[in-house]
Amino acid sequence: MTEKILILDSGSQVTQLIGRRLRELGVYCEIHPSGKIPPIDGSVRGIILSGSPCSVYDQGAPVIDFSLFKGKLPVLGICYGAQLMAHMLGGRVVSAQTSEYGHAKLCIDRPDAALFQRMPRETSCWMSHRDQIAAVPPGFCVTAHTPACPVAAMEDEKRGFYALQFHPEVLHTPEGADMLRRFVRDVCGCGENWVMDSYIEEQIEAIRARVGTGRVLLALSGGVDSSVAAALLSRAVGRQLICVFVDHGLMRKGEADRVKEVFSGFDLTFRPVDAGQQFFTALKGVTDPEQKRRIIGEQFIRVFEAEAKAIGQVEFLAQGTIYPDVVESGIGKAGAVIKSHHNVGGLPKDLGFSGLIEPLRPLFKDEVRELGRKLGLPELLVRRQPFPGPGLGVRIVGEVTPEKVRIVQEADAIFQEELNRFGVDTGSGQFFAALSNLRSVGVMGDHRTYDCAVALRAVLTSDYMTATAARLPYDLLEVCMTRIVNTVPGVNRVLYDLTSKPPATIELE
Ligand code: XMP
Repeated sequence: MTEKILILDSGSQVTQLIGRRLRELGVYCEIHPSGKIPPIDGSVRGIILSGSPCSVYDQGAPVIDFSLFKGKLPVLGICYGAQLMAHMLGGRVVSAQTSEYGHAKLCIDRPDAALFQRMPRETSCWMSHRDQIAAVPPGFCVTAHTPACPVAAMEDEKRGFYALQFHPEVLHTPEGADMLRRFVRDVCGCGENWVMDSYIEEQIEAIRARVGTGRVLLALSGGVDSSVAAALLSRAVGRQLICVFVDHGLMRKGEADRVKEVFSGFDLTFRPVDAGQQFFTALKGVTDPEQKRRIIGEQFIRVFEAEAKAIGQVEFLAQGTIYPDVVESGIGKAGAVIKSHHNVGGLPKDLGFSGLIEPLRPLFKDEVRELGRKLGLPELLVRRQPFPGPGLGVRIVGEVTPEKVRIVQEADAIFQEELNRFGVDTGSGQFFAALSNLRSVGVMGDHRTYDCAVALRAVLTSDYMTATAARLPYDLLEVCMTRIVNTVPGVNRVLYDLTSKPPATIELE
């Protein structure tokens, strides 16, 4: 029986990050809503209670029945989890005069506390709370404080209760990973048993149990997430997996062929659809960026639906949703629409599927890449830069035509080649060529030209919400300019886009 830690989620946005930290420690964990605690069998070694946007005094705030594990299993409460522990076990939680957000100096009061062994007496931690613990429950002692928070940590070692007001799972708490390690190793006694191979085995087993003899349909875009999902599902159900690859004609140079080549080597049913012509016809004369996105999204669904119909009854739809997608779409709902994102996540739900399979849902991007490598996907695909669902459609300002797509493909291929040759690390950003709608006068040989301007865009970003232009070597830019104007017909100017995000966005449309 695999030993595991149960994480009980009360609605915090960083709960999955706790799971990720435990996986990094080689510990298997399961996340369950705090209102739906699964049966606690002998495989459970400890419990972690996550944060929540609620106050323990809110009506309907999550509550947890501590009698389920009191004295039986170690429990670590984090943020709201810590407050809930204080509140339910006889301590007192109050609303603080000032909220505490961001870095705080953490002073350790009990260096012998289980989570703080061999730690400096002073370190920093990441706080995000308004309520705080004013009095610890009977049997507990305060183990750390910050200038604004008298109970930043508390414990009752005898009964196995531990609580941290701050977030040990975020990187801004430098000692946080060690605190979690002490909890799962020293307190709960978990070994280092979990590796990515275990994830593969568990998922294969779960997928097989769910799918049985049914069929699974996956829209494969050639991006990292859908490719890794395809590789994993292929291991689980082989040819019962049908991958539909819609080539909308807006891919980068050679990309569609690469996807076809890679997946023709996998044990699955691969259905590529060359739909470029249909997309170009629908996009003819359209210049408005939002309308272009809408059309590309609609066409995609139309092609996919037609393909699904041709395939016949399929029981399951699979998607390569990863954890940041889940969080971002949650946040996105309240925000203003800057761009309506289209990707293969926006598939019709009314095709008669009886279930949705999302085998990457708890994973972060780098974990997905690691998984892809384990499943034998080529490095080129696993390390692929993010590419927008509407493809080159949003990298061409104004009307999209096959001719313009060809220009961007050629210019982009040259840019990628030179980035490689100059050894530029493109792993933490997006580097691409786009086409402006500028036409301008130039001279080539003895002839006047009136041609297009290619824009090179290279941005560094960690979250894609903000970005800065990369300081590319001047020689690299110059070589790209020379090669592009000399070899790509229709281009007589090359620009380097220096704009950060904000005020610009990463893509041009
Ligand atoms: P922007 O241009 O909004 O891009 O700064 C931020 C990130 O999102 C990607 N992007 C998209 N991805 N469908 C996608 O799947 C879309 O419609 C879309 N538009 C932008 C963009 O490549 C960058 O990584």
